[in-house]
Amino acid sequence: MDPTDRLHSLPWAALDGLQQPVRGAIARVLEGAEAERVVDRALRDRRELSRPQRTAVVEAIFGVALWRRRLAWHAGTLEQPADAPLLLFALLRDLAGLSDGEAARLAGVMDPSPPPRRPPPEALGVRWSLPDWIAASLARDFGAEADALCAALNLPGPVCLRANTLRATREALAARLGDENITTRFGEHSRLALVVEGPRPNILGLRAFREGLFEVQDEGSQLLGLLASAQPGETVLDACAGAGGKTLLLAAELANAGALHAHDIDQERLDRLERRAERAGVTNLLVHRTSVPEGLRCDAALVDVPCSELGALRRGPDARFRVREKLARSLPELQLRLLTEAAQHLRSGGRLVYATCTLRREENEDVVSRFLEGHPEFALRPAGDPWLSASLRRGPFLTTLPHRHGTDGFFAADLRRA
Ligand SMILES: C[S@@+](CC[C@H](N)C(=O)[O-])C[C@H]1O[C@@H](n2cnc3c(N)ncnc32)[C@H](O)[C@@H]1O
Repeated sequence: MDPTDRLHSLPWAALDGLQQPVRGAIARVLEGAEAERVVDRALRDRRELSRPQRTAVVEAIFGVALWRRRLAWHAGTLEQPADAPLLLFALLRDLAGLSDGEAARLAGVMDPSPPPRRPPPEALGVRWSLPDWIAASLARDFGAEADALCAALNLPGPVCLRANTLRATREALAARLGDENITTRFGEHSRLALVVEGPRPNILGLRAFREGLFEVQDEGSQLLGLLASAQPGETVLDACAGAGGKTLLLAAELANAGALHAHDIDQERLDRLERRAERAGVTNLLVHRTSVPEGLRCDAALVDVPCSELGALRRGPDARFRVREKLARSLPELQLRLLTEAAQHLRSGGRLVYATCTLRREENEDVVSRFLEGHPEFALRPAGDPWLSASLRRGPFLTTLPHRHGTDGFFAADLRRA
């Protein structure tokens, strides 16, 4: 699917009269403000807006935030400083299909001679509005598939839920959500996943959420947690637990029997993990705020390392412009260190899952190769063998891809200690 198609059916006429605040909001995003926050603020400041007006404002700000490189190409300003009204004009005319006159009026462009129309650009980075270093990395690692992958990274992802089996089965959750007028279908890849059909619900307002029956979690992320194959009664470590997206899945798999150790260096995220664990009914969680205690001898460990997050680019329109190439280059050393540290806490025969939400070889396959070179006591297994579908593997690794699987992009290696 062409990700610009959806722009053709939006209520753009509702921007009439809102040109000035919308252009101001876009200018703030182009100067570096986070698009989500700018949109929240714009809507909070104008509670009187009608539904079509709200839709048009959100889509205009997010649209320019996401497509800014492609729009600059259409506007003939690729090498010049970003110009909010001109980029909005290009969004409306060149991607949304409005006439020159209508696009100029709704964007508030005064210039009587708009830039001439140009065919879509050839270069991958400009066509899909990606920084060139990201486009080059995806082209190198995904070859002929890179175009479809980049297109999928420019479409909003679905809302995916994970049934919290401490409180409800997936079937029971689907029924409870049905009672709250939320229609879902079973996810194709994770046995815990429900994908929301229809408009995005207000999750926080749902009774089923407040009662801890589910978490919002992409199917690919669920698979990373499932790869640890946690069994009730085991001792499991989540070495980079963050706010607990995967920790809570591990807890449900353990069924509150055994011990779940969670570590992170970010205290605020660990606070959120504790609150979420309480809502989810987790009773065997041990949070370690400074370091993982010695002598755990875990049955399984998950190391979900900090990464460049290229697999999750569809979750935020401006995320791609926030990832710094220099920082991304420094990540593999940290990732290898975190994997090596976590490996020390495994018993003989224990399972070690290395996971990222990026699609860069340097942070994925290369880190695992370097780890294996220094740790002959570990062996790489076909990820998720025998339960994981072969279509979710690239070589021995779990790799989920938005254009193939409809999930965010994730990578994981399934390692076993001798
Ligand atoms: C990809 S995020 C984890 C997301 C989490 N597993 C989830 O599913 O929600 C990576 C985490 O690594 C943490 N981190 C960064 N450096 C670390 C370190 N030296 N030791 C432990 N955690 C670290 C970050 O604070 C961040 O929460």
